[in-house]
Amino acid sequence: PAEKTALKERIKRLLKEREAVLVAHYYVDADLQDLAEETGGCVSDSLEMARFGRDHAAKTLVVAGVRFMGETAKILSPEKRILMPDLDATCSLDLGCPADEFTAFCDAHPDRTVVVYANTSAAVKARADWMVTSSIGLDIVAHLHAQGKKILWAPDKHLGSYIQQQTGADMLLWQGSCLVHDEFKGVELDLLKAEYPNAKVLVHPESPANVVAQADMVGSTSQMIAAAVEMDADTFIVATDNGILHKMRAAAPGKRFIEAPTAGNSATCKSCAHCPWMAMNGLQNLADVLQNMNNEIQVDPRVGQLAVRSIKRMLDFAA
Ligand code: 13P
Ligand code: SF4
Repeated sequence: PAEKTALKERIKRLLKEREAVLVAHYYVDADLQDLAEETGGCVSDSLEMARFGRDHAAKTLVVAGVRFMGETAKILSPEKRILMPDLDATCSLDLGCPADEFTAFCDAHPDRTVVVYANTSAAVKARADWMVTSSIGLDIVAHLHAQGKKILWAPDKHLGSYIQQQTGADMLLWQGSCLVHDEFKGVELDLLKAEYPNAKVLVHPESPANVVAQADMVGSTSQMIAAAVEMDADTFIVATDNGILHKMRAAAPGKRFIEAPTAGNSATCKSCAHCPWMAMNGLQNLADVLQNMNNEIQVDPRVGQLAVRSIKRMLDFAA
């Protein structure tokens, strides 16, 4: 603990010296989330991370999250320096949607409006008409559907099916998934609910349909935390990466939060619902990038100029 405290103090000092600001996602290590809050940065969902990075005056942002979050920050603010603790922190959705295959898919369906999830590469965003995050995807697709548009959706099939079911839009779905949320199990959740009949179930829409169907509330990480505070219940079952529990417990003290079951939830694996790429962000590599000012995110400016249109459409819609 003494070592940890010293490392945190060093990071705080370096953030000041480098005039840098820390932007963290709810799935990263609790210490990083706390540091972001204590130092005037932000800890949030993907939409708010993008907005905060765009609006903050700092010339250097350190993004504690996964690669697409750093790339979105860079695309929105090409003049800023965007650093990440580990540039190899990726996402199964991004990996499962290579730009060349995606482009061919879009080319084969020119009559469809292309809507992509934030969890994609800059090149995929460059081919899209709209980029959305989990907090606003449903509203944007409902808006496009009302205009009579047919949608090509990528890459998350569960989020896509959920939005399709909620809006009735005509959606052609890419078949990607998040390796964390894909593991939540509907049958086991049903059994857990029987054990805690008064519990409310909070679900991230990257989860499979038979998990989403049992939800009292479906939404982005920020929306799930808000629901934990606002909903009148003392026990919650939470189906998303367990990194979120730190903030939920702080925001709703006295309430009880239980992880939704995954195939691996057992005596040997108590915390399977945790993204291995989010877990690559730690105090030591955060201190190192601030010390060395390395691990800078680069996006080809030509790709960035195309990708920024789909991101700005979402931010304008959200405003
Ligand atoms: P949100 O925080 O936007 O809900 O996204 C979750 C996610 O997939 C981050 O990896
Ligand atoms: Fe990607 Fe899932 Fe990890 Fe989020 S939790 S970064 S969606 S693999």
